[in-house]
Amino acid sequence: MTLFDVYPLNDITIVKAKGSYVWDDKGTSYLDMYGGHAVISIGHSNPHWMQRIEDQLHKIAFYSNSIKIPLQQQLADKLGKVSEKEAYQLFLCNSGAEANENALKLASFYNGRKKIIAFKKAFHGRTSLAVAATDNPGIVAPVNETENVIFLPFNDCEALMEYFKDHGNEISSVIIEGIQGVGGINVADIKFLQLIRELCTEHDAVFIADSVQCGYGRSGKFFSHDFAGIDADIYSMAKGMGNGFPVGAILIAPQIQPKHFMLGTTFGGNHLACAAALAVLEVIEKDELMKKVEENGTYLMNELKAIKDISNVRGKGLMIGFDVPENLKDLKKNLLFKHHIFTGEAKPNVIRLLPALNINRSSIDEFLTALRIEISALTSTSTSPSNLSSIPN
Ligand SMILES: Cc1ncc(COP(=O)(O)O)c(C=O)c1O
Repeated sequence: MTLFDVYPLNDITIVKAKGSYVWDDKGTSYLDMYGGHAVISIGHSNPHWMQRIEDQLHKIAFYSNSIKIPLQQQLADKLGKVSEKEAYQLFLCNSGAEANENALKLASFYNGRKKIIAFKKAFHGRTSLAVAATDNPGIVAPVNETENVIFLPFNDCEALMEYFKDHGNEISSVIIEGIQGVGGINVADIKFLQLIRELCTEHDAVFIADSVQCGYGRSGKFFSHDFAGIDADIYSMAKGMGNGFPVGAILIAPQIQPKHFMLGTTFGGNHLACAAALAVLEVIEKDELMKKVEENGTYLMNELKAIKDISNVRGKGLMIGFDVPENLKDLKKNLLFKHHIFTGEAKPNVIRLLPALNINRSSIDEFLTALRIEISALTSTSTSPSNLSSIPN
């Protein structure tokens, strides 16, 4: 049997990981500035996380949601405390798309409406409604197409007000990433998030804060939407929540009341997933990771801004992007294959940095040094006519 070939792959096989480093099958170590796609929050193979999962494995890994699972309540209590959203309710699932799918569905159950406002360059996942609210026609199958999703320009207050003025009583929900990830690290303006809050309240629409990538402390606050000093009605989360163990969730504001069977899941909230998610929150809390993210993020951002050959350095905390000019188009590839550093990208020319929240200063410096060396190698190659033949394909 062959694997269904949906991803272009780098010819690298990772067999071991620790902290902010991973090792391939030949023993080469790589610095992970990509966090395995923003998933690694407390570091690869974190000892507390491994112990928590191992201990749980020896007790029970899974039983159905038809019985009481006290670990779910422990997780809800800890998550309420660390996120400072203690009045919210927790629904557990397995992935980011599933979290958004449940959020959009729940909003529609709540107000009985169908229209969803999403934004240009948004990414919300690949399940039916989540992908319909994703601004990439290439991944929307004909069966997912719907007139219920309206894409408005990101950070455009006028367009949003205009749409609400004409269709306010039809809108079920507004879904927005506090910092767009796949779209290229675009930070939502504080006043834009505040306006969404105002308009949703005024029109009884549900404000969904997609925090799958930008949440869980990555921005330096628990939710990046917190920078706007507002509360969303639903927060969706996944990636950093399990540090690689598949777990997702939505936090639901108290006015949205549950009914039996309106949502459901087989695997969501299983014993192992709860143990993994609790371990992550315990480390975030004990090691004061959000404070560290803020400090290290500011340092990294300032150092990047001082590099003249890259532009538009943006983001918050340890979710940072910058634009790469045409003459540096091999930068990401060379960082990986020459310097053994994983970074992320966004089309057409953005490098995305999403390292573990507890990456240390020396690893950040290691990245910056490699970046400067590679930029100067590429710029001297591209400006020197005698070297043109040595430009790699
Ligand atoms: C903002 C955002 N929402 C949702 C998702 C979907 O998450 P998952 O791949 O876990 O389904 C992603 C994944 O990249 C994301 O970045």
